[in-house]
Amino acid sequence: MKTKVLVTGGAGYIGSHVVRQLGEAGYDVVVYDNCSTGSPKAVLHGELIIGDLADTDRLYQVFAKHRFSAVLHFAASLIVPESVAHPLDYYSNNTRNTLNLLRCCHVLDVNQFIFSSTAAVYGEPEENPVTESTPTLPINPYGRSKLMSEWLIQDHSLASRMRYVTLRYFNVGGADPGGRLGQSLRNVTHLIAAACNAALKRQSEVKIFGTDFPTPDGTGIRDYIHVEDLASAHVDALRYLEAGGESQTLNCGYGKGYSVRQVIERVKAISGVDFPVIEAERRPGDPACVTACAEKISQVLGWQPQYNDLDTIVYTTLAWEMQQENLPSVTGNRQKLVLINKERP
Ligand code: UFG
Repeated sequence: MKTKVLVTGGAGYIGSHVVRQLGEAGYDVVVYDNCSTGSPKAVLHGELIIGDLADTDRLYQVFAKHRFSAVLHFAASLIVPESVAHPLDYYSNNTRNTLNLLRCCHVLDVNQFIFSSTAAVYGEPEENPVTESTPTLPINPYGRSKLMSEWLIQDHSLASRMRYVTLRYFNVGGADPGGRLGQSLRNVTHLIAAACNAALKRQSEVKIFGTDFPTPDGTGIRDYIHVEDLASAHVDALRYLEAGGESQTLNCGYGKGYSVRQVIERVKAISGVDFPVIEAERRPGDPACVTACAEKISQVLGWQPQYNDLDTIVYTTLAWEMQQENLPSVTGNRQKLVLINKERP
């Protein structure tokens, strides 16, 4: 019989890539998602239950019916400025809902848990790359809501038979190279999305938030990871727990940083569109540099990234978006994509 797992947030960007890989790996998947930001169309395997983690009765019924062997918990709010404006929503949707889920795991004896955490728990690290033992000092409610969830998971595991893998994601981008899944970039503000939206002429320019950071070119440095590699880390984590592995908290990045200028340069080169770039003030709360020490995840899980390349992240992001918009797009190969629609208004 197939192993049955629950994936919360499995209709979202990262969750849907994981669900696809779990299906291909032979797992029986049940997705629980309120579809507030995710889409039923993105669930390519298993059963989708549209429900909210705040609805504890419903959640309990789902657990009682299915008897999961593991839970992968993605469902969360993740926009940093929104978390500053509406912190209670973030503590409800992220922290309290993780507690709801853990209670069901406890009552129904589900003892393997994989959690989506974030590099935001490190705040503004004094040293890079950050290791898993770098102090966690989040600087916004989003990061704190996730760190509190980490603590709930750790404390519950110490008091029970539950084992967990918490993955701290760095800057996730890209799309399924097979063109089945991706993230809609409309209304998304992260750097690769902003630059791709400018290349697609949906916005007039890209702003560089801060050019006076203590970095070689003065702009912020981040560790960009392809969503397919992040997804495979979850499948590896599940196999690790199934093999009896002990609880772990692991960074999930490549260990290599790119500056804002470097990312913009690659988006221009790959899209073939020379969009305007404006130098602007720093965004409040942006650290200069956050890159992962990625040794532990490879050692513990045997994780081997397949798409460790900024150009592939940019290329698959653009290719997905153009496919969604039915734009005549791709010429060239995986490394070079030229937008035929350069002159679109
Ligand atoms: N940036 C720009 N212009 C833009 C957008 C971003 O210059 O239009 C800069 C930022 O100032 C920063 C870098 O690009 O220096 C990356 O910014 P992103 O918004 O792409 O990503 P963040 O590093 O701020 O945050 C992301 C996620 C968070 C997560 C964090 C973990 O959005 O949810 O990674 O590292 F917590």
